[in-house]
Amino acid sequence: MFSEKKILIGIAGGIAAYKAAELVRQFKKNSAKVRVMMTQAALNFITPLTLGTLSENPVLLDLFSQEENQSTVHIDWARWPDVIILCPATLNVVGKIASGIADDAVTTTILASTAPVIFCPAMNKEMYANKIYQANQEKLISNGYHFVAPGKGELACGEEGWGRLAELEDILSEAKRVLFGDQALKGKKVLITAGPTREPIDPVRFISNRSSGKMGFALAEAAVMRGADVTLVSGPGCLKPFPGIRFISVQTATEMANQVAGCLPEADVLVMAAAVSDYRPKVSSARKIKKDDVGFAIEIERNDDILLKASENKGSRIHVGFSVETENEIENSLCKLRKKDLDLIVVNNPLEDGSGFEWDTNKVCLIDKAERVERYPLLSKSELADRILDKMIGLLKTEQ
Ligand SMILES: Cc1cc2nc3c(=O)[nH]c(=O)nc-3n(C[C@H](O)[C@H](O)[C@H](O)COP(=O)(O)O)c2cc1C
Repeated sequence: MFSEKKILIGIAGGIAAYKAAELVRQFKKNSAKVRVMMTQAALNFITPLTLGTLSENPVLLDLFSQEENQSTVHIDWARWPDVIILCPATLNVVGKIASGIADDAVTTTILASTAPVIFCPAMNKEMYANKIYQANQEKLISNGYHFVAPGKGELACGEEGWGRLAELEDILSEAKRVLFGDQALKGKKVLITAGPTREPIDPVRFISNRSSGKMGFALAEAAVMRGADVTLVSGPGCLKPFPGIRFISVQTATEMANQVAGCLPEADVLVMAAAVSDYRPKVSSARKIKKDDVGFAIEIERNDDILLKASENKGSRIHVGFSVETENEIENSLCKLRKKDLDLIVVNNPLEDGSGFEWDTNKVCLIDKAERVERYPLLSKSELADRILDKMIGLLKTEQ
């Protein structure tokens, strides 16, 4: 993922410093070149030997050491990276950088660098809530620095609250966004649906389908990577949304329809990647239906068609639909495209190998409003998400 990218990891003196070792390992595993610099306080928590071994590079500790035979070591280190990640970032180091204090190797290198910097704060909850800390963080954000917000939970001091170092997975995702993202969708509000819906029969049973949500989640990630303001409305599943996404979790088609209706007036783009159940039981029993030997029938009724409803007040909004067809794919999808006034429809056939629900790959064709059909080879869902977004960006440009 980070092939040949140069990552400089700064470690400050917080208890979460030990997690930086795993971060170094993860970047190395993803083919990045990694260097580490540490504050003097960090030396109390983790050794340079560990980090030098994992990064396979010498660790920068001291501005004034002549070991590398360089008099301006901080400038050489500041020019080297594609991104700097301060993990953990202490209250102290955030305050120093926000105030332009450069009194050690880490702060001097960061302030001398033009590379993007990602701060990963970790501290006690009261330190994190401290107004001086918050003001410093705000100042850095308004100066273009990036932050990965800490999580909530049990802290090393035994207290509970906000201040735990973010998950390493989230830090890697932010690095990916900062390094590879672009701003083609900046200022655009993109509303995406994903996953299946569940239509309850009784408290323990439901009607659903095999959708995993992978395609919708991949689209949401790709849209964030391009600077969009993304809302993802998803049915039940086990996927974690990419950081930066506004995530709304729903169960039924009716809940999904309500959430979409609420977000729609603001949206520039609607992508309906969810596999919304067409039908729901007419009656959902409040108690578990007992088995007997006679059997039972479920009377079902239609759910609203979310895309069809959205087309009533479409305006200049771009609508992208998905179609799952096991026969007459093109003709059936063209009918949907026309009936629902879509700008683009993604057609897939789950009977094709590697295609459709649950797979990490998909083989689709795209049909646009002008009814041009483009067939794609088997692609990963994230590659496909990028292709769909390329099309969407083209459509947004035509609308402007
Ligand atoms: C056991 C221990 C744990 C600490 N953990 C944190 C922490 O998680 N976050 C933080 O901001 N400061 C923490 N501190 C305080 C910092 O180590 C202290 O502010 C230090 O000056 C930070 O130096 P640096 O920012 O140059 O690394 C801790 C101190 C001790 C003794």
